[in-house]
Amino acid sequence: MIQLKNIKKNYTSRKGVVTRALNDLSVSFPSRGLVFILGKSGSGKSTLMNILGGLDTADSGEFIIEGKNIEGLSQVELDHYRNAHVGFVFQDFNIIETFSIYENIGLALQLQGQKASKTRIDEILDFVGLKDFGKRKGNEISGGQKQRIAVARALIKKPRIILADEPTGNLDSKTSDQIMQLLKEVSKTNLVVIVSHDPEEAELYADRIIKIKDGKLAEDTGKDPVEFDHQPFSFVHQHLGFWASFKYGIHSISRKKGQLLITTFVIAIAMLFAYLLGSYLGFVDQPNPALLNTLSPAELAFMSQDLQGYLPSASAFQLNIAMYVILVAVTYVFLSMSVTQRKKQIGIFKALGGNTKDILRIFIWEGVVIALFSWVLATYLGYAYVLDINIKFFNALPVLEFNWLQAGMNFVLIFSVSISFIILTVMGILKNNSVISILKK
Ligand SMILES: Nc1ncnc2c1ncn2[C@@H]1O[C@H](COP(=O)(O)OP(=O)(O)O)[C@@H](O)[C@H]1O
Ligand SMILES: [Mg+2]
Repeated sequence: MIQLKNIKKNYTSRKGVVTRALNDLSVSFPSRGLVFILGKSGSGKSTLMNILGGLDTADSGEFIIEGKNIEGLSQVELDHYRNAHVGFVFQDFNIIETFSIYENIGLALQLQGQKASKTRIDEILDFVGLKDFGKRKGNEISGGQKQRIAVARALIKKPRIILADEPTGNLDSKTSDQIMQLLKEVSKTNLVVIVSHDPEEAELYADRIIKIKDGKLAEDTGKDPVEFDHQPFSFVHQHLGFWASFKYGIHSISRKKGQLLITTFVIAIAMLFAYLLGSYLGFVDQPNPALLNTLSPAELAFMSQDLQGYLPSASAFQLNIAMYVILVAVTYVFLSMSVTQRKKQIGIFKALGGNTKDILRIFIWEGVVIALFSWVLATYLGYAYVLDINIKFFNALPVLEFNWLQAGMNFVLIFSVSISFIILTVMGILKNNSVISILKK
């Protein structure tokens, strides 16, 4: 079903050191059966899995599926190949801890544009022996159970290929056996490729064992004829639906209320200062005559002295700019912090078949909510307190008004700033890190 011919893959570190991960590797895989890949640490096993799963591309060589050469496929098409046909199982499970089991498994379906059907999820949970676990959270189950959930998540979309990178590496022997039996069962109808460093485990379960050494094929117990099962692979575009992305976006925030609160609060405070200064400076520039008339001569005298003494017009303008720069910087620090913290989640979305667009949709919803909350809070604080703060802080200046025009402008500012930061950070993470290196952290 799958053929790799003369695959080469090098990694170049930032300092320019080149590591040969795969060196002229040729191997082919059947449509079904359990294939073990054995090899020492660093021999290139994970690199091979990533290429097989469309998470990474080879530097040269051919990658042929059902007779179709994948080499020419764009990253977008590779995303769809992974989305529709590949299920991943990782050594450290990569279950989203704050999501329920239903959500974790349902996500794999939704990333394919399908409904997260409860009946289907219950069926697959039954298959992996975890009936009635759907409502538990990812962090409320044991390691072995997590791995079974990961298998269920890989299976739910009925992929033709299951790729498991050291799936039992973090499990005790009894649980390992259970996972292996599960994967063995699946391999009756699908291709299951398992990376392992345990030869005994391989002997016990494998239909075929491939050994890799220094990025080259060292041994292959199976002579696998290249066979095609004539079910053409489709590379159809499927996306996370609008409501599903909204739900997951809102969801991740609601599970991190503390962080939302701090982020919102800090942005709101920064915005509030911008309001305050804005309304104050607005008055320095153009005192409202109607309000000016309400001032007593003493207040007026105090003010003109105060304004002239403390805020000459030129520095007032610079101060206003500085205030906005601070606002933008604070927003950036907090938003990129929260996106970076969820780097792993981004990797999981991608490995499950999401592409950059799907992931951006989820995070943009988060940005929308944070921007909205901060703005409402700042506006409320402004509306309720700006006048009061002005009076106390600037020693009786009842002339300063809350300015809705400025509030509107601030909304546009905070909104566009937060959304652009989120887009930039997510794109940066996906561009500069392979999914596997994200997931390893
Ligand atoms: N993202 C990367 N950047 C630089 N070197 C890498 C990267 N990923 C893997 N390598 C190197 O490539 C080689 C093969 O790695 P890998 O495929 O992960 O091996 P294995 O899974 O067999 O342990 C190793 O020498 C590893 O250090
Ligand atoms: Mg590895």
